[in-house]
Formats: sequence, structure tokens, C-alpha cells
Amino acid sequence: MKAVEIKEGIYWVGGIDWSLRNFHGYLTQRGSTYNSYLIIDDKITLIDNVKSYLADELIKRISQIIDPGKIDYIIQNHIEMDHSGSLPEILKRCPNATVMASPQGVQGLAKHYPMNCSIESVKSGDVIKLGKRTLHFVQTPMVHWPDNMVTYCPEEKLIFSNDAFGQHIASSERFDDEYPLSQLLHEAEKYYANIVLPFGKQVQKALDTVGTLDIETICPSHGLIWRSHIKEIIQHYVKWSHNEVDNKALIIYDTMWKSTEKIAYAIQSAFEHHNYKTRLINLQHHHISDIMTEVLAAKYICIGSPTLNNNIMPTVAGFLTYLKGLAPKGRKGLAFGSYGWSGQSVGIVENIMKESGFDMLEMVKLQYIPTEEQIESITAQISGQL
Ligand code: FEO
Repeated sequence: MKAVEIKEGIYWVGGIDWSLRNFHGYLTQRGSTYNSYLIIDDKITLIDNVKSYLADELIKRISQIIDPGKIDYIIQNHIEMDHSGSLPEILKRCPNATVMASPQGVQGLAKHYPMNCSIESVKSGDVIKLGKRTLHFVQTPMVHWPDNMVTYCPEEKLIFSNDAFGQHIASSERFDDEYPLSQLLHEAEKYYANIVLPFGKQVQKALDTVGTLDIETICPSHGLIWRSHIKEIIQHYVKWSHNEVDNKALIIYDTMWKSTEKIAYAIQSAFEHHNYKTRLINLQHHHISDIMTEVLAAKYICIGSPTLNNNIMPTVAGFLTYLKGLAPKGRKGLAFGSYGWSGQSVGIVENIMKESGFDMLEMVKLQYIPTEEQIESITAQISGQL
């Protein structure tokens, strides 16, 4: 595939990872891209690069525009290896280029690669002149690592936002108006829920800064470039970063002999009765990263496990670990489950949810198979707390 000109003299030259399905535990069912951008001016500049195994693809695309040896500046907005993995290969072709990153980025790069090259740290407020264009740097720590920054070009009203506003989508389309918008927003939501969610406060800070800039194009480092739906994606980021939720309840569970599942249905009925949107999610059939996408807009997260070997089901343990790490804030929780004799599971689920910051409803714990009367009393118990 060719390099794609996104503005006169500015090209997308990234890599497309069509077959990627697992991004450290995140199911990327649409693959991904690692976007790299080439600016042709008096100073030739490359913004970010690609995973190491796509270095050839990147170098071929750059070579369609210029000899890679002519690159003057390599801006490393983020050091994570999906955006820096090809740096050693690029530097072999332009050994006199200067690499620029935030102070944390400069330190981090030295711990990833032999940086036998010119390297400069840049911070918020710093500006470099390329010729007819300038690049302005804004540090955005923890969106997604401490080193992150974004790079703004005021002459083009264009921001290179790195992980922010990204989506894991492999496609031949490059722009938001060329791709189905609902799928694009869904993937942006999934990306936020699985990558950015713990850093809401930092996102708000970054949005405050970015909000003062005149922007016509957002060039993220994953997925499609935003040029027609900038208002929508910014509005979504504002909502997500403030942990705004809908009247929506998730009932997430695993089950051995369908008793915990019966409780799950009873809980779902209670929420439905109170006009909540509900999702009944059996962990045997849903990927944890897809469940996190649902968590983003949910007010109630109910998690159920039967007791298995004095503990909880491994599927539930895996999801709870993932959920705890992503630390959604301002949500309510409920632990539930059936047991045979020892009955530890519901307490274990409740404790992990409390440690994760959930405000918990009274737990639902029943021995063996729930009776019709018990099912009715569960519905009443939940209803009484909504
Ligand atoms: Fe896409 Fe934090 O790297």
C-alpha cells in the first residue's frame, strides 16, 4: 500500500497489522495500525514509527516520498514499542537525524535501544521550526505512559496525538469519514476502556490544553485519522474521562450447574423492572476486553461466581484482575453466586470489588439450586436498593 498524503507535504507512512488479535490481553478483532507521519519541509521530520516487525513496510512507504537518509528529525511522542520498535532500523538509514522526546521519553529510549545518535529532550511549550511549519510540544503524561506527549502543527491545524483518540482498526481507509462511524466510535470506546480508563484525570488535563488549540485534523498513532468527526470524539473523551455513566447494569458471571446463572437472570429482571439497560454476560462466551467496553457506560457492575475448590471460577478471577487494574471509578457493584457447602466465592468477589473502589450493594448468596421463592426475593432485594 502506498503512503497517503493527508495534507500537502504531510504523509501517513505507518504500518498495518492486519492479523493482530492479541495486544497484551486486549482482543483486537479488527487488527491495528501503528501510524507514522512524514513531514516534508526544509527539515524532514518523521513522527513516531511502528512495531519492529513492520519496519520494512515503514521504510518502503517513506522511500516512496524521499530517501529515508534525508530525515532530519524523528519525533518520538511515546516510547512504547508499538511506536518506537523500528527506531533502530530507521536510525541505520539516517544516522545523522536528531531524535526528540520528552525528558521521560529520552530516559526510557536509552533503556530500550542503543541510542548512539543525537537526541534532545523537549517539554511543553518548546517549539521547533521546520521551515514554513513549526512543531509545538505538549507533554501528556500517563496518556498512556509517563513519557507521552503530543505534537501540534499550528500552520496545518493538525495534532499528532499518539495513543489519545486511537482505535485498533486495520484498514485501507485512512480517514474517519471513509469508515463506518458507529464501528469507528465503538473501537475508540474499546480502546479508551482497555488502555486509557485508569488515567481519566490526566486525560482531562490533556483535553484542557488541547481544547485551547485550533484543530482541523487529529492524527492518532492507531487507526483512522479524525478530520470530519473531531467534535464527536472529543465529546466522547470528555464523557469517558469524567466517568459519566448511563442507567445500565452489567450482570457478569460464570456458572457450574446453572444456579449462579439463575441468580444472574433474577438480578437482570430487577434492573430491567427499574428501566435499566442490561447486559447478561457469561464469561465463558465473552472476552474480558469486550466486557470492559460495556463497563465504560455502566452504572452497576454485578459479578457472580459459584464456589469452586473454596475459591472462585478462573474466568471470574481473570476478569476481576483485569477490572481491578483498569480501576473504573464512580460505579456501584454487587457480588452474587451459588455454593454447595463452603461458600467462599461471593465474599471473595465482594472483597476484590471493594478493593477496586466499588460501592457495593448487599451480596446475593444462595446454597445449591435457588427456589422460585428465592428468585423472587432476590428481585425484591435488588429492587429495594435501586
Ligand atoms: Fe500505542 Fe502506549 O502505545
